[in-house]
Amino acid sequence: MCAPLWCVSIAALLAIAAGENLVDSCQLVGGDRKSVTEQQLLAKLAPLKGKRFEAKTQEGSDIYTYTFVVCGRVNNDSKSTNEGLVQSKDGSKDTSVIGRINDTHIINGSDWIMLYYRSGDKYDTHCNNEARKAMVMISCNKGTVGDGFTVIQEERNKSSECFYLFEMDSSLACPPEESHLSAGSILLIVFAVLVAVYLIGGFLYQRFVVGAKGMEQFPNITLWQELGNLSADGCDFVCRSRPRTSETAYRGVGEDQLGEEPEERDDHLLPM
Ligand SMILES: *[C@@H]1O[C@H](CO)[C@@H](O)[C@H](O)[C@H]1NC(C)=O
Ligand SMILES: *[C@@H]1O[C@H](CO)[C@@H](O)[C@H](O)[C@H]1NC(C)=O
Ligand SMILES: *[C@@H]1O[C@H](CO)[C@@H](O)[C@H](O)[C@H]1NC(C)=O
Ligand SMILES: *[C@@H]1O[C@H](CO)[C@@H](O)[C@H](O)[C@H]1NC(C)=O
Repeated sequence: MCAPLWCVSIAALLAIAAGENLVDSCQLVGGDRKSVTEQQLLAKLAPLKGKRFEAKTQEGSDIYTYTFVVCGRVNNDSKSTNEGLVQSKDGSKDTSVIGRINDTHIINGSDWIMLYYRSGDKYDTHCNNEARKAMVMISCNKGTVGDGFTVIQEERNKSSECFYLFEMDSSLACPPEESHLSAGSILLIVFAVLVAVYLIGGFLYQRFVVGAKGMEQFPNITLWQELGNLSADGCDFVCRSRPRTSETAYRGVGEDQLGEEPEERDDHLLPM
């Protein structure tokens, strides 16, 4: 028996001694000069981390199962070689690692993310015996965090740059939601609606109940005129740079005119 901390340390030392390179997550290439965008994208995929997906294809009478783990190992044991996507033939022990998480690449567009695992097992006869690699196209689908993992095609007829192509759906690949109406704009809209109700309701009341005509149909017209005059005075007081004397003269004229303003009523125009 040993204390848990010591057990972990000893296990870690043994792992290092055995030359095992256990990786727990996607490793981007680039040493200390990793791409910032790639790191952001991996962070975006965090809710899918460790999730396991399976898809099957049929080739002749053989059925192949592909197992994909997002930034995690398919075989979570000491024999793991950082495989992130593995092909196995049903009814046999044949397996090939298609891609490894310690050689991850990731790119994106407005509504998709493409995850590459490279450094898979080498082809036996195809593609000049290069290492296999997996490309997983993750498309935006608001309905699921991760689903619909399917095999699209295996391209191995080329002399190099062969690949296995997969696709799946995830909301994580969706562009950020456009922000809905902010609290401020909701307040503005409510205010505008209240003003409209006040104006229309007041107008109808003045016209049909009180029987007002012309400008007087506006609800509380005198109050608003007073308020307008008050704010005009306030503005005068605050904003105007002209000396007070000329201002009073100017205002006198205005008030005279207001006094003389003829009645707006047009009853006499009616042919009655
Ligand atoms: C390995 O699998 C065990 C259980 O199957 C799980 O508790 C553990 O977290 C896994 N480790 C990693 C690194 O995925
Ligand atoms: C990834 O891990 C495997 C097995 O541990 C190792 O053979 C390979 O060299 C590693 N690849 C990279 C790019 O680190
Ligand atoms: C790709 O992802 C990054 C990080 O999430 C984001 O800032 C960028 O806008 C995305 N690119 C496109 C074309 O949407
Ligand atoms: C590769 O070639 C085989 C036959 O030569 C053909 O059946 C298959 O569809 C080809 N694959 C691709 C991806 O072009």
